[in-house]
Amino acid sequence: MIRLGILGSGSGSNMQAILDAIATGGLAAEIALVLSDIPDAYILERAARAGLSTGLINCRDFRSNFPEEAQHETAEALLQSGVELVCLAGFMRLLRAPLLQAFAGRIINIHPSLLPSFPGLHAWTQAVEAGATESGCTVHYVDAGVDTGPVIFQATVPVLPDDTPESLHARIQIEEHKIYPAAIAEVAASLRPG
Ligand code: GRF
Repeated sequence: MIRLGILGSGSGSNMQAILDAIATGGLAAEIALVLSDIPDAYILERAARAGLSTGLINCRDFRSNFPEEAQHETAEALLQSGVELVCLAGFMRLLRAPLLQAFAGRIINIHPSLLPSFPGLHAWTQAVEAGATESGCTVHYVDAGVDTGPVIFQATVPVLPDDTPESLHARIQIEEHKIYPAAIAEVAASLRPG
């Protein structure tokens, strides 16, 4: 069973989907550690309620920077928990060398668009404002860029004429919750063949 580390800054619905897939036998994994940079993020509450180990990433007063020292501490905490695959789930800071090197080829992310279209923040708003007729979500490996690593899995949803950014995001999230556990299973199989 592969040991997962989850990093998130928000509500944690993708973490919940991963937990649900584990509980129903759809994913042979365990969540070893859940870390957030936001002290009152709902992902931490959900994780604690599920009895998971949690921790706070100390980014001091930086709003979006992920200080190198904090990245070292994060890598150390993940390694000490025996994490084999790191899953970003709504984590809002860019990863750099300390973490990328510690988990080379073992960090994945879910992004709410069909990459390479609409990388970065509020991808669902970007899709509506661009007049796109379809969008979706992408699971990809993480590199030092903004949503640029190799694609693992994608799912497509229509953008309807009366969509708001919120209604499109809700439709995309339904697909995220299906493809993220499926992509994790596939990556886990490639990391631990047989
Ligand atoms: C998701 O839409 C994900 O694609 C993006 O951030 C959001 C996180 O949602 N990276 P949640 O915290 O998993 O509910």
